[in-house]
Amino acid sequence: MIKHSEMIRSHVILQYTVITFVVVLLVTLILAQIMTKRVTEEVIQSHLRVFPELVRTTLKQHPEAARWFQSPPGEKVPEEVGEFFAALLDIPGVFRIKVWNERGDVLWSDRNELIGQNFAGNPLLDQALRGEVAYGKKSAEKSENITEHGAKIVLEVYSPVIYAGYVLGAVELYETDIDLERSLADTRRTVWGWIAVAGGVLYLLLFAIFYQAHYRYRRTTLRLLETQDVTIHALAYQSEMHDTETGNHIERTTSYVRLLAEELSRGERDRQVLTDKYIDSLAKSAPLHDIGKVGIPDTVLCKPGRFEPDEFELMKKHSEYGASVLRRAEAKLSFESFLKTAIEIAQCHHERWDGKGYPAGLQGEDIPLSARIMAIADIYDALRSRRRYKGPYPHEECCELIRQDAGKALDPLVVEAFIRREKDFLEVSRQLAD
Ligand SMILES: [Fe+2]
Ligand SMILES: [Fe+2]
Repeated sequence: MIKHSEMIRSHVILQYTVITFVVVLLVTLILAQIMTKRVTEEVIQSHLRVFPELVRTTLKQHPEAARWFQSPPGEKVPEEVGEFFAALLDIPGVFRIKVWNERGDVLWSDRNELIGQNFAGNPLLDQALRGEVAYGKKSAEKSENITEHGAKIVLEVYSPVIYAGYVLGAVELYETDIDLERSLADTRRTVWGWIAVAGGVLYLLLFAIFYQAHYRYRRTTLRLLETQDVTIHALAYQSEMHDTETGNHIERTTSYVRLLAEELSRGERDRQVLTDKYIDSLAKSAPLHDIGKVGIPDTVLCKPGRFEPDEFELMKKHSEYGASVLRRAEAKLSFESFLKTAIEIAQCHHERWDGKGYPAGLQGEDIPLSARIMAIADIYDALRSRRRYKGPYPHEECCELIRQDAGKALDPLVVEAFIRREKDFLEVSRQLAD
């Protein structure tokens, strides 16, 4: 009997693990990306709320600076205004500032050549001059942003300078990434950590549910397959019941068929057809090859000695009877099953390579491969076994007779496969002897 537990391989578990892992990983990555973006925005927004507030309070502490915004660019910076700048530069993370008047002229910068230049038209500056906070994230690769801070990303916050309800100009604060990036990295790590834990828990839960379902499915399938095997054998035994000479014929021929199929699957001609699945179908079908014998009267089937010609004609009908029984069973199935092979075998296992067999007189490769394989298994077993009209032949004599039949009754390539595996045939014939 076929070992079904080996047939239902645990690839399903592996497939499930890989697919679920990839899906959970992807979902986790996407979620983490979205969360990180949200959190990064939130951190930046909190800075954007704090900076203008700091500018406003600092200006309140240095009212002289408010008047200075009206003076032309390049004017000497009074001491109190210098203190205003110093206070802004004291804000943690801020390492550079630029100051504009309401027309967009640079009033002050630590780069002298910029003083007096007009930047009106810069959308961020224009936004600040309308009284709203604007910001941009710049790469420190830009020469003006490379600082001794070793910054990678610079946050540029354009804050309006508002005094007594009027926009006097704008201050641009450059924030290094050192603190910002550190706080962002911390937040990102936390977010990623939680999402990874959630992903892991989700994966384990799904795995537990799947494993249970798979286990139940596997047990049910195994039982069904075993029931199928038992049913096949019960049918086969029934057909052999009246044929008292056959003994372990079913078991032996099934083993021979598998041996031949495995050997032929290594050869050029039949490699494509003889897949593992096909070989399993062959092994399942072999016991049913003589199922049509149930339709032969016992007077013929159990007759001692050789058949008369009319008896032989009757006996020959067993192949068509068998095929027709199996065809009726197959018609009730909604999917393609091993019965397709079983029908071929029942119908054609007495056809001959030279076309002189029965029932259809098929020739050569017109005979299904399954039946050509079955023919040798059947003949070897008949030769090796005791019959009412003959004794068992020694293994060597059987080999010789089969070799002589290559190209006559038997497919020469299947005969070659038999010769290569004849020792295994001998072994099986001994182990399963009647
Ligand atoms: Fe037969
Ligand atoms: Fe047989």
